[in-house]
Amino acid sequence: MNKVSPSIISSKLETLGNEISACDNADVFSYHLDVMDGHFVPNLTMGPDLVKAIRRSTERTLETHLMIERPDKYYKSFIDAGSDILLIHEECLVDFRKLISDIKGEGAGFGIVLNPDTPFSKAERFMEDSQILLIMSVHPGFSGQKFIDYVLPKIAEARKYIDEQGLKTKIEIDGGITDITGKKALDAGADILVSASYIFSGNIGERIKILQNL
Ligand code: DX5
Ligand code: ZN
Repeated sequence: MNKVSPSIISSKLETLGNEISACDNADVFSYHLDVMDGHFVPNLTMGPDLVKAIRRSTERTLETHLMIERPDKYYKSFIDAGSDILLIHEECLVDFRKLISDIKGEGAGFGIVLNPDTPFSKAERFMEDSQILLIMSVHPGFSGQKFIDYVLPKIAEARKYIDEQGLKTKIEIDGGITDITGKKALDAGADILVSASYIFSGNIGERIKILQNL
């Protein structure tokens, strides 16, 4: 069964508890929480209080994708809110050595994120410390965008590197994932599929099962 991580950004927020129950019942691997600050990306989403509410609704892993300019300033609020793993963009201008050690010091996991145009080579120095390598297959900011095919060779390159180095890092793909593009990403070597609009625009349980069984 493939690992699926629903991004609740596209769920019916007025009945979020029900949406989360439907995902839990479909045996999702984790939840993907998209945090946007209107600076790093041109959109605004959730803060730590919503993460806290989600933490109270499920026992599964919460991975928080920080699309914000200052992850060094806010990482702790999201860990305190219940995030298990923080996903940080390589494109952020922060002192990564300090940030990674601070995140781990708080008992949380770290993952590195690459935008579609950032090459895999930029992630190499983070790989030993990363539980997850998140490869963006859309330009971050909005759900419902089209999958960018040119990231597929990057997934394959990362897969080869991880296998050759014997690392445990999981490759996660985020953006435009459907039954068609999810299959392409898995074939290229991805381990975890993030999906927002595909899952929440249909029957949640059925859509998750489709992605799990690609
Ligand atoms: C994009 C976010 C994604 C997005 C996925 O900025 O990081 O997680 O919500 O949405 P879909 O699956 O609709 O492309
Ligand atoms: Zn995301």
